[in-house]
Order: sequence, then C-alpha cells, then structure tokens
Amino acid sequence: MNNAMISRRNLLISAGVATAAYAGRPFFNAAYADDGFLEITAGPTATKLYRPEAEASDLWLYNESTPGPEIRVKVGERVKVRLKNNLEEPTSIHWHGIRIANTMDGVSGLTQEPVQPGGTFEYDFVVPDAGTCWYHAHNKSWKQVARGLYGSLIVDEATPAFDPDHDLTLVIDDWRLRNDGSLDVESLGHLMDWSHGGRFGNFLTVNGKSRPEISLVDGQTYRLRLINAANARIFDIDPNRFDAKILAYDGQPLLEPETPAYSPMLLAPAQRMDLLVTAKSDFALEELSGDTPYPFIFFKVQQRQTEENVYRPLKPNPIPEPDLDNARSFVLDMTGGAMGRMVETVYNGKVLSGEDFPRTGQLWAFNGVANLAEDPFFSINRGESVILEVLNNTSFVHAMHVHGHHFRVIEREGATIDDGRPWRDTFAIGPDQSVRIAFVADNPGKWLFHCHMLEHAAAGMNTWFEVV
Ligand code: C2O
Ligand code: CU
Repeated sequence: MNNAMISRRNLLISAGVATAAYAGRPFFNAAYADDGFLEITAGPTATKLYRPEAEASDLWLYNESTPGPEIRVKVGERVKVRLKNNLEEPTSIHWHGIRIANTMDGVSGLTQEPVQPGGTFEYDFVVPDAGTCWYHAHNKSWKQVARGLYGSLIVDEATPAFDPDHDLTLVIDDWRLRNDGSLDVESLGHLMDWSHGGRFGNFLTVNGKSRPEISLVDGQTYRLRLINAANARIFDIDPNRFDAKILAYDGQPLLEPETPAYSPMLLAPAQRMDLLVTAKSDFALEELSGDTPYPFIFFKVQQRQTEENVYRPLKPNPIPEPDLDNARSFVLDMTGGAMGRMVETVYNGKVLSGEDFPRTGQLWAFNGVANLAEDPFFSINRGESVILEVLNNTSFVHAMHVHGHHFRVIEREGATIDDGRPWRDTFAIGPDQSVRIAFVADNPGKWLFHCHMLEHAAAGMNTWFEVV
C-alpha cells in the first residue's frame, strides 16, 4: 500500500513531559449478575483526560471507564451482556469483528431498535473466532464513540497463546480537546469534518492514558494488541523500527508471524493489528504521519532473572474460502465530500439539491444513494461467494467495514497485495483507488457495509446487504 494516498493529518499536542505510568490491562470493572450477564451501563461520566489541573470532560462511558471494561472470553464461549442505557439518547452496542448472529449485531435501525434512555437490552451470542475485537456504540456513532463509548473484546484461543502478563491490549484513541483541556463537544457534528477527513482529535490516549510507559522484561516475548478506536484518524506505524512481527490483522492470525514488507503500516479506524515483539532495549511506538515521529507508547525494558516465556503459535480460524471463479460481483462507487465530483444523490427516496445537503448532512453517497435505502445494495443466497469491487471516486481515504463477515483483499490498484491475502473486516482505500474484496456470504441476515470514519458514515457512506 503506498503512503502517498494518505494526506497529512492534524498535529497532536502532548500532555507535557511526564509520561503516565501504565495502568495495566484495561480496567476491568464489570460485574456479573446472578443470571450470568455482564452488566454494562452506558452513561455520562465527568473525567479528566488531560493534566490534573485541566477541566473535566463530559464523556459518555461504559461503566464509567475509558476504555470500557475489557470483555475476555474463550473461543466458542458465549458472551452475555446486559446493556443499560443511562444516556439522554438511544444507543446500542456493536461487537466489531465478531462473525455474530445477526440479531445480536447491535446496529440501531437495522438489526435492532435502539435502546431508549432508561432501557436495557440483552446481548447473548457465541464467538466463533479467537482474536482481537472491540465493541462500540452503533447509534450516532460519530458522537457516541467520540465521547468514549467503546471497549476491547478479546477472544482467547482455547488454550491462550500467551499468558496474561505477555498479552497487552492497547486501545488507541484521539480526542479533540479545547484549550482548557476538556473534550470539545461543541464541535461534534461540524459539517466541515463531515465533508472532509472526519473528526480528528489533538490528544492521543492509550487505554485512556496519555503516552503511557509500559515495563517489559528483557528477553521476553509479548503480544501487543493494537485497536484503533479513533473516529477518523489513521495511525501510520512501523513495526520494523523495533523488530516486531505482525501476528494478526483484525483479529485473524497470519499463517506465520510476518515482518512488514512496507512502511509505514496503516492502522485505519476500527482496524486491529497484533504485534509480536521481544524486549531487547527501550523503544516507543510512534505515529509517523506528521513531519516528525510522534511517540505515543513508551516501552521500558527491565532486567530480571526469569525463565524464557513460552507462547503458542496462533492457528487460523475456520473462515470459509471464497470461490472466486463462481462468485457474484457487485460494484460500489463512492462519491461526494469536499473536492469531490458531483453526482445525483438520493436520500430517503428523494434527490437532494442545494440546501438539502447541509440540512440533511448527507454529503457522500454509495452508488448515488446516501445512507440506508429500503432496498439492500445486494441480496445473496447463503453460502454464495461475493466479490465487491469498491471504487473510491472521492478525494479522501476511507476505511470500509463489512459487518458479520471477514474478507480477503484480492486486488488493490497500484499496490502489491500482502502475501497470503490476510483476512480483514476493515480495509483502507485511498483517493481514486479501487480495491476488490471477496468473501463467502455465509451469515444470514441484514449486514451493514460502511465507512468507519464515523462522520463519513453519518454523512451518507452507509449501505447494507442481505444474506438469505
Ligand atoms: Cu465498528 Cu458498523 O462498526
Ligand atoms: Cu470515509
């Protein structure tokens, strides 16, 4: 993938010289009820993101923590979560990266009614694959995720490949802070962000902390699970800078741990990347899209007499291989946005013109349709293979996410495809680029296909398909 496809992004501020001590794995503060349900409450929580002297931010969090409690299960187990909505508006939870039963997918308006303020909803599903996933609000995500409604969902192998001390979840987010250090909530929904690259923050956190310092033991090998929870920011990172290998993308392991063949790697919104790293000397994980590298996690290597730690190779999950020769093909033409070509755009069955665009906030379209239409983009029989050809006829990069399925990127214009064509659930696509993906539509139901730059999704980059 070439790096020129990504435009330069807003600069980040740092919270001063001192780095925060690592708070360990994401704070686990969920309680199980007697009936075995994990209780997760979405609600407003005043939180200091920046320095102690800064103003508190009006965050919306799961169980008052950022990120929300880490949910950890083993492959094949059931996840049972009772969501309670203490927000002032409806919400729902989407379990990103899980090949899930459709009624549990958590998409407000497509797979469930949103949960009203004061209401509850019980999620109960089986996880078919081991890997790094996450969960987040899926009603007005552009606002609810930006205010903090997300957490990690880690599915361990039947015998976990790494022991807990060597298996680190790193949920990365960028927040937009005002000068007083609190979250800028007034700018949520600005059409300037919606029509351009989405909402960028200026303050980066990892598991809710700015520039954490993490201790590793010399000579030991770790799994770092990176999760991009930002609304729109792509992180450019280079694992070669600290001799790391890629273990998995979007929760799905590679056949062998791989040395990245190009640099930097892109971690687009909603994407995950598991890295394998052996601690030798101090290093930092840096964001490389700006003029100078921006280190945002510091790893300090401690000397300690210990045994070598052992870990097991990851095994592939049972995802069916698409039959490319007999696949049905569909084309998705992405248009709109600033500096974009004008096309006729239909929203709620009506052609938009002039003032309709700012009034409805619909600024992008898929095949000339902004947001969900009554009819699906396509309908297909269960078990059929699909090839989606996606044409980005806009001036921006996008991060396209398929619900309910993992796919392989089989062709990317102007770039060589990663060896082995790893499984993904979200792919980045550059301006004027075309990408083809393939998967077996083996999961019945109504599934979203959308840009995970959440402002773009809200502003039209949303469609759905049906597996019958
Ligand atoms: Cu992670 Cu439809 O989203
Ligand atoms: Cu987009």
